[in-house]
Order: sequence, then C-alpha cells, then structure tokens
Amino acid sequence: MGLFTGKVVIVTGSGNGIGKATALAFAKAGALVVVNDVGGTRDGAGKDQKAADAVVADIKDAGGEAVATYTSVSDLDGAENIVWTALNRWKRVDVLVNNAGILRDRALLNMQVSEWDAVLDVHLKGSFLMTRAFARAIKVQGTGSYAIVNTTSMSGLLGNFGQANYSSAKAGLFGLTRTSSIELAKLGCRVNAIAPVALTRMTEDIAMLKDVGVDQMGPQHVAPVVTWLASDVAVEVNGRIFGVHGSKIFEYRMTQSEGVEGVAGVPWTPESLQAALAKIEK
Ligand SMILES: NC(=O)c1ccc[n+]([C@@H]2O[C@H](COP(=O)([O-])OP(=O)(O)OC[C@H]3O[C@@H](n4cnc5c(N)ncnc54)[C@H](O)[C@@H]3O)[C@@H](O)[C@H]2O)c1
Repeated sequence: MGLFTGKVVIVTGSGNGIGKATALAFAKAGALVVVNDVGGTRDGAGKDQKAADAVVADIKDAGGEAVATYTSVSDLDGAENIVWTALNRWKRVDVLVNNAGILRDRALLNMQVSEWDAVLDVHLKGSFLMTRAFARAIKVQGTGSYAIVNTTSMSGLLGNFGQANYSSAKAGLFGLTRTSSIELAKLGCRVNAIAPVALTRMTEDIAMLKDVGVDQMGPQHVAPVVTWLASDVAVEVNGRIFGVHGSKIFEYRMTQSEGVEGVAGVPWTPESLQAALAKIEK
C-alpha cells in the first residue's frame, strides 16, 4: 500500500517541470492522478495535448493510473472540467495541487495590461477557480481528509525586478492559502503552499541554476514536499508556506512587530510616526 493508494489527486500544469515530477511521485505512491495541462509555451501561448498525454503514458508504463485533461485552469468551464474529469472517472477527489503557471516578465514601467491579466488569470484566478470547484466537490463527498497544495514563489513573498504581474499573483496565492486553510478546515481539508526554486523551462535562463544542475536543483526535490503536505503524515500542518530550494527546506512566515501604542484618542501625525518608527518596527 502506498501513501496515496485509492486517493484521487489533481495536479494542474503537470505536463512539464515541477507538476510533472509531482504527478509521477503521487502515482508512484498509489494515487489515481488527473494530469492537467494546456500544453502551451512558457508565456502561455498555444496549446498541445502531447504534454499531458506523455505524462499519463509515463504513469501507465510504470503501472500507475492516470487520466489527461487539457483545459485551462483560468477558464471557469475549464477548471470545472478538470474536477469533473476526476469525478467522472473515479467518483471522488482527495487532493488538489495548484501548480499551473506562466511567465510574462517585463519591468513595471513597460508592462502591458494584457501581460498583467494573463499572469494573474493563470496563477491566481486559476487557483481560485480550481479551489472552489474542488471544495464544492468535497463538500458533497462529506468531511474527510483532504488537502490542497498551492504554488507561490519567492518573487511573490519577497518581490523581484521585472515580475510585478507574477509577484502580485504569487502574493495573492499567499492570501488564498491562508484564507482557504481557515475556511475549508471544517470540511477536513488542509491548505498549504510551497515556494519552490527548481531548474525547469521556467528558470532555464537563470545561469546560476543551470550551473548547479538538475541533480541538485531539479523538480524531483520539490515533488516529495508536495506529497508530504498532501498526505496524512502532515495532518497537523495547515495554512503554512514552505520554501524548497533543491534539498533545502525552510518555512516562510508573515510576522507582525510588537509595535507601539500612541496616546488614546489622539491621532498620530506624520512627524510623531516618524519619531516613533524605531518602536513601531520593534
Ligand atoms: N521553477 C521554479 O524555480 C519556480 C519558482 C517559483 C515558483 N514556481 C512555480 O511552480 C509552478 C510550476 O512551474 P515550472 O517551473 O514547473 O514551470 P513549467 O513551465 O515547466 O510548467 C508549468 C506548466 O503549467 C502549464 N500551464 C500553463 N498555463 C496553464 C493553464 N492555464 N492551465 C493548465 N496548465 C497550464 C504549462 O503548460 C506547463 O506545462 C508554477 O506555478 C511556477 O510559477 C516555479
């Protein structure tokens, strides 16, 4: 018996990179896997069924079970189709991995509205649509042991030049993770997120990563963190964000400083705030 024997797992964007490694890891652990991928380019252009089909073939060749779906997570009908693919085939869902993603990097001064929309649509709206469709399905199934793993990014949590669209979407995923971890707890669904760094086509032009190489920085290091968070082994882990850089794992935390109390009933002024800055930060 594997950790996921009989469990139905949806991995969006699993035709390549981290999603592919994750889908293969779930299948190896006994899961019935929905492999979703539109099969577009890194910037989200075009579509091709080959990416998802190839991963389904790999899983089946290794003795596992998988089904492909090619619809976009950013489209309402497309997202619902992904969940329905699982329900039609296996009559249930247990795990959702929101992994699908694209890049349209450009400095803020030159960023086009279309570039903003495309990236927000796939990462943030797509994860919302998938989460809602999944949550509605598990509500019908009844309280159980469910999990969602979202994919945020160092860029979203810390910021990065040239990625106003991507970092805003990924910061939004922090909020979606926190809020859905609170709202879905009553259904027995935990929601956590990873912030990976891995050598994939998305990062293939980052020389530093290429130099370190796929053995140390490949998506095979990210997949076990996703399966851990999705498994009952992590039953007490909810609403948390884990960084994964190759073999290094750490936790991102939002912190609040102790702050300072002003004079009750007396509004602060810009000058008094500046004077109190050292205490506000503490
Ligand atoms: N690689 C990294 O270092 C890194 C760092 C931080 C975050 N991430 C995130 O990890 C996730 C996976 O990235 P990756 O590096 O494996 O990239 P990738 O390009 O190899 O894989 C992304 C996959 O998502 C699919 N996809 C794109 N739009 C889709 C849509 N609308 N519906 C369904 N599928 C769609 C693509 O076709 C592609 O197969 C992304 O969310 C990415 O932002 C990656």
